[in-house]
Amino acid sequence: MLNQNQTPLLDTLKACAERPHAPFYTPGHKRGQGISQSLVDVFGKTVFQADLPELTELDNLFAASGVIQQAQQLASEAFGSSQTWFLVNGSTCGIEAAILATCGTGDKIILPRNVHSSAIAGLVLSGAIPIFVNPEYDSVLDIAHSITPSNLEAALRQHPDAKAVFMVYPTYYGVCGDIRAIASLAHQYNMPLLVDEAHGAHFAFHPQLPIPALAAGADLTVQSIHKTLGALTQASMLHVQGDRIDRERISKALQLVQSTSPSYLLLASLDTARQQMAIYGKELMSRTLQLAEEARTRISQIPGLSVLDLTPNPSPQAASGVKSLGFIALDRTRLTVTVSGLGLTGFAAEEILDQQLGVTAEFASLQHLTFIISLGNTQQDIEQLVQAFTKLAMTSPPKSEAFLGIQEKSSHVLWDNLFMMGDAMCISPREAFFAATEILPIQETTERICAEIVCPYPPGIPVLMPGEIITHTALEYLRQIQSMGGFISGCADSSLSTLKVVKI
Ligand SMILES: Cc1ncc(COP(=O)(O)O)c(C=O)c1O
Repeated sequence: MLNQNQTPLLDTLKACAERPHAPFYTPGHKRGQGISQSLVDVFGKTVFQADLPELTELDNLFAASGVIQQAQQLASEAFGSSQTWFLVNGSTCGIEAAILATCGTGDKIILPRNVHSSAIAGLVLSGAIPIFVNPEYDSVLDIAHSITPSNLEAALRQHPDAKAVFMVYPTYYGVCGDIRAIASLAHQYNMPLLVDEAHGAHFAFHPQLPIPALAAGADLTVQSIHKTLGALTQASMLHVQGDRIDRERISKALQLVQSTSPSYLLLASLDTARQQMAIYGKELMSRTLQLAEEARTRISQIPGLSVLDLTPNPSPQAASGVKSLGFIALDRTRLTVTVSGLGLTGFAAEEILDQQLGVTAEFASLQHLTFIISLGNTQQDIEQLVQAFTKLAMTSPPKSEAFLGIQEKSSHVLWDNLFMMGDAMCISPREAFFAATEILPIQETTERICAEIVCPYPPGIPVLMPGEIITHTALEYLRQIQSMGGFISGCADSSLSTLKVVKI
């Protein structure tokens, strides 16, 4: 057992920042001496004194043998891995490296269709061929959940030669699929399970939170420490356990996708976020869970509002009493409030909350608003959130027809048809990325090869990926999502007047 009270990286950085010397190295502001006064006015001077390069005492991120290695070992113990790498380019670079380290050009990887764009970047960089598995989809709430063991098993039987299985755990909504069963299936086929746990860095620190990916059997997991814990934006970690992952390849891949000038402010924030959680994690998470529970209870009592829970609203699954295997646990610190009962879209509610009521959500979708409740939130924040929703409901009283109205327009009818089409991948995402492309009016793109991601919200599942054939059904689906008030992300023209396609 290591002494988790230590912060070797922070301590050494502090000593270097305080040691008087004439600096003839990067960065050019020389420990804040040359920094613009307007920046000092906002941030103060101390932070710039610690903005140092890889001085001898500060170790080297890509050949760690000193204080970075010590800090990574402490993190490995605290998060339950065999080896941990600190990341300065977000989980984005960790996910890219995970794919690069397990798949070469032409290798297959099984992954959910609702992956984050960093996984698509990993496909482009590696040249891997995606075998997409559709996630479970709650058609009433219009939310995509996790892939299920049975969907994965079908893909594994069809593609036993794939090199890895990749899953998102939890989803942006805090929804967790059956990761134990998924890990065990991947291992039966001798494949490693790679996990995008960007939103689950806090799971290891409280028994009432969902099981962490590593404890459930994942071989590799990537966590945005900055998203739910106390690290600076971009500061993330990649953890590995067991022997299914080649650790040398991870180190090599991380060198490809990260800066050779890693920020020590970010690295030190990883060291201290780990210390904070190792020492106070359970207490901090108990308080966070308590705050989240209070917000859930009080908001769900406001007429016209409901809160995403493990037995979702009147969904077909819940009605028939069958638990969705794409939703077996919920991170209760993630709060998704359905506002469509007020006759408002999530987008409209977000604007009112943000601009008139002083509350800012993480993101909005057609029917919902999602809030991240973390160790940084206070009782006062929760009070403000509940008051804001109370006022919102008073100014937009529940409309019995409204919820049904939005639901009737829900995309699920179309959704069912969309992915009956089977495998539409024509060339690999990498080939599509490097191909000559052209931008065409959308009506002229049917049967052409798509050169960009086209992802509607809701439900946040890409309808088109680079390398896929554009079908009439896909375009019709996108048009209907737009007419419902949804928005399209991932592509250059979000109005969808035009689409980028591969030139013939
Ligand atoms: C599910 C998911 N995976 C990965 C990422 C990328 O994480 P980062 O912002 O740390 O690069 C995000 C970011 O929003 C995400 O939501």
